[in-house]
Amino acid sequence: MQLQRGLKVYNEVCAACHGLRYVPLRALSEAGGPSYSEDEVRAFAAENFEVFDAELDDYRPSTPADHFPTVSGDGMGPDLSLMAKARAGFHGPYGLGINQLVRGIGGAEYIRAYLLGFTGEEKEEFGSFLYENTAFSTGWVAMPPQLEDDLIEYDDGTPATAEQMAEDVSAFLMWAAEPKMMARKQTGILAVSLLVLLSVLLYLTNKKLWYPVKHGGRQARL
Ligand code: HEC
Repeated sequence: MQLQRGLKVYNEVCAACHGLRYVPLRALSEAGGPSYSEDEVRAFAAENFEVFDAELDDYRPSTPADHFPTVSGDGMGPDLSLMAKARAGFHGPYGLGINQLVRGIGGAEYIRAYLLGFTGEEKEEFGSFLYENTAFSTGWVAMPPQLEDDLIEYDDGTPATAEQMAEDVSAFLMWAAEPKMMARKQTGILAVSLLVLLSVLLYLTNKKLWYPVKHGGRQARL
């Protein structure tokens, strides 16, 4: 449900200025994602996006085989397909990356903080407007503040507070950047558990094999 809400925030707010060009629309119906049915994705693609078809020499409605749009031009933001990975937030301690092991890579947390980090201050510099944002490295960004309470309406009735929308769209962008993350983590946990079990068995085998040598030897000496 969170990924479905995040998709809605992206689609209704962020898509005006940000593309997701590496994300295929069909991923919306794949396991571990927003889990729409294939029919729903087909309808969503056709309703929301158009692509240029060289064969038709014209624009046609998107299909699940197409990707989310590429957005570029004046005032537009960077593509968000990989943003959640590009802005990894948790490093350290001492560059060891242990934080990432425990808390995740921190890109989604950064995006949430960024979306909520606007102070409301703005200034004009060399003809363009800049907005103060406490999460951004230089403190000033060219992106105007986007989220305010009740900007959109969620289909599942969740109250659309600014925090809720920031969290949902960040989760959605994390999924977009790493669609197989959940499956990968589950496999990882299984693999590590099996390795731990194997280590215990090896330790016990080792004990057992050496028992007569160690203890038998002592008895012989006595
Ligand atoms: C009016 C156009 C516009 C809209 C709408 C918009 N953005 Fe942006 N966004 C920008 C621009 C321009 C930048 C580049 C800012 C800069 O680098 O100074 C940007 C940058 C970003 C960045 C990169 C920050 C960084 O660390 O470099 C993220 C993440 C982002 N936007 C997320 C979003 C999300 C999520 C939404 C929807 C809730 C959204 N944006 C809506 C224009 C927009």
